Amino acid sequence: MNTKNDWVTRSLQHVWHPCTQMQHHETVPLIPVSHGCGAWLYDMDGKRYLDAISSWWVNLFGHANPRINAALKDQLDQLEHAMLAGFTHTPVIELSEKLTALTSHQLGHCFYASDGASAVEIALKMSFHSWRNLGKTDKQEFICIQGSYHGETVGALAVTDVSLFREAYGPMLQKAHVVASPDARLAQEGETAADVALRAAADLERVLQQREGKVAAVIIEPLVQCATGMAMHDPVYLRRLRELCDQYHVHLIADEIAVGCGRTGTFFACESAQIWPDFLCLSKGISGGYLPLSLVMTTDAIYQSFYDADVRRGFLHSHSYTGNPLACRAALATLAIFTEDDVLVQNRRKAQMFADVFASLRDDPRVRHVRQQGMIFAFDAIVADAEKAATFSRRFFSAALQQELLMRPIGRSVYLMPPYILNDDEIALLAQKTMKVFEQVMA
Ligand SMILES: Cc1ncc(COP(=O)(O)O)c(C=O)c1O
Repeated sequence: MNTKNDWVTRSLQHVWHPCTQMQHHETVPLIPVSHGCGAWLYDMDGKRYLDAISSWWVNLFGHANPRINAALKDQLDQLEHAMLAGFTHTPVIELSEKLTALTSHQLGHCFYASDGASAVEIALKMSFHSWRNLGKTDKQEFICIQGSYHGETVGALAVTDVSLFREAYGPMLQKAHVVASPDARLAQEGETAADVALRAAADLERVLQQREGKVAAVIIEPLVQCATGMAMHDPVYLRRLRELCDQYHVHLIADEIAVGCGRTGTFFACESAQIWPDFLCLSKGISGGYLPLSLVMTTDAIYQSFYDADVRRGFLHSHSYTGNPLACRAALATLAIFTEDDVLVQNRRKAQMFADVFASLRDDPRVRHVRQQGMIFAFDAIVADAEKAATFSRRFFSAALQQELLMRPIGRSVYLMPPYILNDDEIALLAQKTMKVFEQVMA
């Protein structure tokens, strides 16, 4: 029989792991997972780990959730997959209707793919092609925000401003304009988060003025730029962004792949600013963390710009598993849980609990920028020693595993983005263990 170590050896021989310098596994352990239950993952020795980052921000209602499992088992016996060109099916129809209703029917057309980056590619292409169909062929440029992350395919990487991910591929990427970040951590003496946001919006306006008539769209992660280290901004930035996009006839793409599905407090992050984008990208949590599913929701005006007898004016983009029925059914079960359990209301109480259990951090001299947006909580560790700072994330990850926690700080930004099903005891345990790990890593 294979032991845990055999599985690790076999994995390292043949599985090339994502976002990983494989050589690090000479010192950092690879954990073979045997099963999951609720917020916990279990390794092959039966050791458990509290999934405090929702397995890369995808899981909402726990691993092996009985309600999502039941929906998937039922769907398996009906239809596992059928191509979506020329065919349709109940799960994709019902999901599109329900999501449309959640946007108050502002974004009534849903185009499906599998991963987040594919949704971003679709939004970029749709924006570009829509302007072309309208005869605005000069509108070919895109604007993204400093520190943005939109995925790792070549189009999505072009509007990503994280040098670690971009550096090697620079010559392959289209140029995009990068404008100032509204990150509230950039506040100067006496400035509020709203001041920073308005200052950043002025930079955006400058570029829109300079490139008037040339810009197709601005892409943003509303409220929280997660991958750059949970950078949070004031919603006034989104309101100003919407105004500027209208004024300069530029599309607004909201990448809600990480922040959608209730993460920031409202179902869509844009709702907190009372705006709707022209394109909204969803993925990750929409399938409850079960199956690869992404989609782009857009307006009737965009849809109509493609609606024509000429096939070339259509949006000729596809992925084999577009609108997969199993993934859509997992998404429907996920949306049902939101309604049945009044999840957004429950999360407000849980978010307050997070604020309470970590209250002492606000006065901790080793910490700055304690911040929270709904079910995302983060703080930055102050590490003076350069070598210790460089290894902070890896050391924290390893120490967390010893404390039964799955946490991966981004640089020195420690964050929690747990599944919504944590109970009060688990929240208290998570806080206690996080602080224990923090003490250990800072010692
Ligand atoms: C905001 C944002 N956009 C896009 C992506 C890419 O999604 P995927 O990894 O599914 O391609 C991510 C992934 O973390 C993300 O956080």
